[in-house]
Amino acid sequence: MGRPLKFNIFRYNPQDQASVPHMDTFHLEETDAMTLFIALNRIREEQDSTLMFDFVCRAGICGSCAMLINGKPDLACHTKTANLPEEITLMPLPVFKLIGDLSVDTGKWFRAMNEKVQSWIHTDRVFEPAAQEEPMTNQLAEEIYELERCIECGCCVAACGKANMREDFMGATAFNRIARFMMDPRDKRTMNEYYEVVGTDEGIFGCLGLLGCEDACPKDIPLQDQLGILRRKMGWASVQHLFSRFFNK
Ligand code: SF4
Ligand code: SF4
Ligand code: FES
Repeated sequence: MGRPLKFNIFRYNPQDQASVPHMDTFHLEETDAMTLFIALNRIREEQDSTLMFDFVCRAGICGSCAMLINGKPDLACHTKTANLPEEITLMPLPVFKLIGDLSVDTGKWFRAMNEKVQSWIHTDRVFEPAAQEEPMTNQLAEEIYELERCIECGCCVAACGKANMREDFMGATAFNRIARFMMDPRDKRTMNEYYEVVGTDEGIFGCLGLLGCEDACPKDIPLQDQLGILRRKMGWASVQHLFSRFFNK
């Protein structure tokens, strides 16, 4: 017989005027290799068909199932109940717009973030479909891919004290995007242009540096390294910015 699990789950439907935020309790017997994906589906199928939560891939790839699991942001599909105590509290991620219960709209937040940091290759070159592809060293391609592994789950944003206090704060995932394009030789933006985008209080200079983001990232993206590199580069760019203003007076 498996452990008796007690789930405390946040409930609220902002679309329903009669709905009031509260916690509901559900009980399940633990089964072998049970994940929170399995547990939540069983609760929805067997106990409450109105429970809202998101899953797409069930494999830690799509980023849609992030939630607060006993207070810590993580992916529900790859969290085994065996690694949790018998009492499990599930809350929606903070910072993002609540759709209902455990479901939040990360897509809207990430679209706005990608627009803010201009998350695309900036080049004047005209695309020539017949031209040969230009090679990139394996090492550089791997370094870029390391940062490209972000699945936009939002765990780092939910874990970030600054993002919780200030809704225009870009967050570690945005700094990771900028770092990815800085590495890419096809992106012709200058340091000054990057500085205009991220050298602000809502950008890298607003970051408190306590690294809750790195601890929460389920994909182990090296956020600490990238934040440090970006802070140094933008610090240097801000000095150049000041000097150019001073001498162009
Ligand atoms: S270091 Fe702290 S303030 Fe900066 S992005 Fe990470 S969690 Fe947020
Ligand atoms: S950096 Fe990590 S925690 Fe943040 S959105 Fe990407 S995968 Fe999720
Ligand atoms: S369902 Fe895709 S990451 Fe969990």
